[in-house]
Amino acid sequence: MSLVYEPLASGPRPDPYDLYRRLRDEDPVHWAPESEAFAISRHEDVVHVLKHPEQFSSRANQTVLMNANIPFTPRSIRMLMGFIWKSRVTPWRMRRSISLIASDPPRHEAMRGIVKRGFAPRMIASWEPRVRELVDQFMKAPRDGEAFDVVTDLAVPLPTTIIAEMLGVESERRSQFKAWSDAIIALSSGSARDKPMDGDLINHFGGLFAYLRETIRARRARPSDDLISVLVDPSHGVSLDEVDLIQFVVLLLVAGNETTTNLIGNAANALLDHPAELERVARDPSLVPHLVEEALRYDAPVQQVVRDAREDTEIAGVHIPKGAVVVPMLGSANRDERRYPEPDAFRIGRDTKGHVAFGFGIHFCLGASLARLEAQAALEALVPELARRARRDAPVEYIDSFIVRGRRNLQLEAA
Ligand code: HEM
Repeated sequence: MSLVYEPLASGPRPDPYDLYRRLRDEDPVHWAPESEAFAISRHEDVVHVLKHPEQFSSRANQTVLMNANIPFTPRSIRMLMGFIWKSRVTPWRMRRSISLIASDPPRHEAMRGIVKRGFAPRMIASWEPRVRELVDQFMKAPRDGEAFDVVTDLAVPLPTTIIAEMLGVESERRSQFKAWSDAIIALSSGSARDKPMDGDLINHFGGLFAYLRETIRARRARPSDDLISVLVDPSHGVSLDEVDLIQFVVLLLVAGNETTTNLIGNAANALLDHPAELERVARDPSLVPHLVEEALRYDAPVQQVVRDAREDTEIAGVHIPKGAVVVPMLGSANRDERRYPEPDAFRIGRDTKGHVAFGFGIHFCLGASLARLEAQAALEALVPELARRARRDAPVEYIDSFIVRGRRNLQLEAA
């Protein structure tokens, strides 16, 4: 029987890895008729696509993912007018603004050059004391023995606070940032994508855009040492108007928090599922950096990315016509038995070289060192708590997204 896999279908995916294995074995360049896309599941082919931006464009990140469906009802039109009034941006203008993640060479290099210095290893290392201070603060109640939720009490607030502070936006607004990025994930890769856009959401986005516009203007007038000041600095020589800048900040806000939250949550979950590995790392905390890499490989926070073919081409002998959407499946590539022996075993310290959890090539994740720093600090503090508690017996709720993989909650009993 032929395999059914729709890479762009919404809905939570509790355990996709058996199906990924069958795809790799039986149909590694799988045509999915409803998604109208090719799903690429083997490591070698995923790397091939990501390595060739001249053949596979990242514009799909905008055309496939940013496809808000605004209904023509009196209420939503009122909300849309409210959005435009508040933010001074029309949805049509937004669509014309190509963000870093959706851009191709040569513009990609110029745009990446603007923010690269904000993510240089020295800059990221300078955040370590603050990251550790926050981890201490969020772990206070758990250390006192109280019941807690790994996701909502630590994995969510840590990256949201850090990215807000790096950008220089008010971190007290962090629950709002989290709500906005949840909405962006749901609209771009969750069930909300298939529904008419909710009027209240349009209204919320108006608030976000208006706030970011004000902040951008304030930094232009008086630069500071944050990332927004780096973006507005005219000496970088790339022409970005206010809408481009707002999109840039939104990208950093979203990319910087959903993903890291899920890395921490997925790592904690894998440890609870593998008590012998948990015991090993609890006995030897120097294994934590290896734990982070194995968690990235084993249960990738970003499961897939999207591209479109710029020309007629081939992947593993399968013809890909110009314009076709191609979905490199990072989460599957990381479990490819052709690359990793016994890939479904969670083994801290195994050779994880070449995992593609942060992508590959020119779009390789800009925030990878920051994510690793946050995850290491969080897991160093979490491991002893995981080792002395039981997971609360509660239904697991997965994020509704075909891009992001993680759980909304991971509750632990009091110690
Ligand atoms: C565990 C955490 C993270 C994971 C798994 C992750 C994953 C990824 C992946 C797979 C890509 C490539 C997308 C593509 O090729 O289309 C990417 C790009 C990117 N990530 Fe991350 N990311 C993480 C954390 C972060 C953080 C903390 C930030 C920033 C604060 C960040 C900022 C970015 C940006 C700006 C890009 C676009 C780079 C470009 O297009 O050149 N990410 N990330």
